Amino acid sequence: MAVIRSVIRGVGAHLPKRIMTNDDLAKLVDTTDDWITERTGIKSRHIAADGELTSDLGIAAARQALVRAGIDPVEIDLVICATATPDRTFPATAVKIQAALGVTKGAAFDVQAVCSGFIYALTTAEALLRTGQFHRALVIGAETFSRILDWTDRGTCVLFGDGAGAVVLEAQPQTGGREDRGILATRIRSDGRYEDLLYVDGGPGSTKTVGHLRMNGREVFRHAVQKISGVIEETLVLSGYAASEIDLFVPHQANARILEGIARKLGVDRDKIMMTLKRHGNTSAASIPLALNQAFEEHRVKEGNLVLMEAMGGGFTWGAVLARW
Ligand code: ACO
Repeated sequence: MAVIRSVIRGVGAHLPKRIMTNDDLAKLVDTTDDWITERTGIKSRHIAADGELTSDLGIAAARQALVRAGIDPVEIDLVICATATPDRTFPATAVKIQAALGVTKGAAFDVQAVCSGFIYALTTAEALLRTGQFHRALVIGAETFSRILDWTDRGTCVLFGDGAGAVVLEAQPQTGGREDRGILATRIRSDGRYEDLLYVDGGPGSTKTVGHLRMNGREVFRHAVQKISGVIEETLVLSGYAASEIDLFVPHQANARILEGIARKLGVDRDKIMMTLKRHGNTSAASIPLALNQAFEEHRVKEGNLVLMEAMGGGFTWGAVLARW
């Protein structure tokens, strides 16, 4: 049966120039390179310069994805930006990116699902492309988490970094068979009962301030492996593929121990995991497209490969996407 699939035509990324190492952090808070490396796998992260905004990172990532896709911005009719650190409370950062790129048709909006934002944005874009209302989408994950960190809290400030990644999706008719390219299955979930385990203690409607990230790391960790493994299994069942058929596992880059725990539970080989958090830290919604970009640049993903993406974040939100490159 003929179906419309969202095929990934191009990928791009952008990181701020400034690099902050674990040793740099040890000068700010009571921590060590050994502690951070052993507990998280992170060695350094990028930090946006003063005046360098989430949209600036997103625009640069989107431009690279468009060039690689060979698609002119005027052909784009949907721009979705996943971010929890927008330039302004409104308008959406996606609208700013849309204007900067010269995209004048269709729609642009932000998706807010914190670290799961890119999975939510891909799921939203795929569903909208399938309706036929839009044909080519830019899906961006862009964050400047350095602006919402409490730089005196060693339990959180060591984990996060800034960056952006983007993909260009194109609606293409496919056969509906096993050789189809594009997004094959998605599953998103949330459960607001866990809000207090990971949140920002400010906002325009409550404190009228931006606020700082607060987290109960141990509890988040406890939920992560179980919830992510569950949603991956649902996604695989939906698609009819087995975990052993996955060519590349591109997880949200939160913590090396979480990623290895999930891969072990699923039975995915270690050499199939894209692990980029060593140099980026946790970049929230940007982490999956940043890792996809690295996979592309290192020739670790090629046409026909089955790629599994997953994430979990504040809310809790979580989800998975299975796509054939
Ligand atoms: N340096 C040195 N010591 C530290 C640091 C630090 N940066 N941070 C905390 N500690 C101390 C604590 O104060 C505590 O000391 P105490 O025993 O004297 O009280 C000790 O280390 C243990 O603290 P825990 O928080 O229990 O440490 P844990 O082993 O759980 O590791 C971590 C903390 C790395 C945050 C871990 O819980 C984790 O990775 N959780 C997942 C969080 C996450 O990934 N969040 C991202 C968003 S959600 C997502 O993307 C999945």
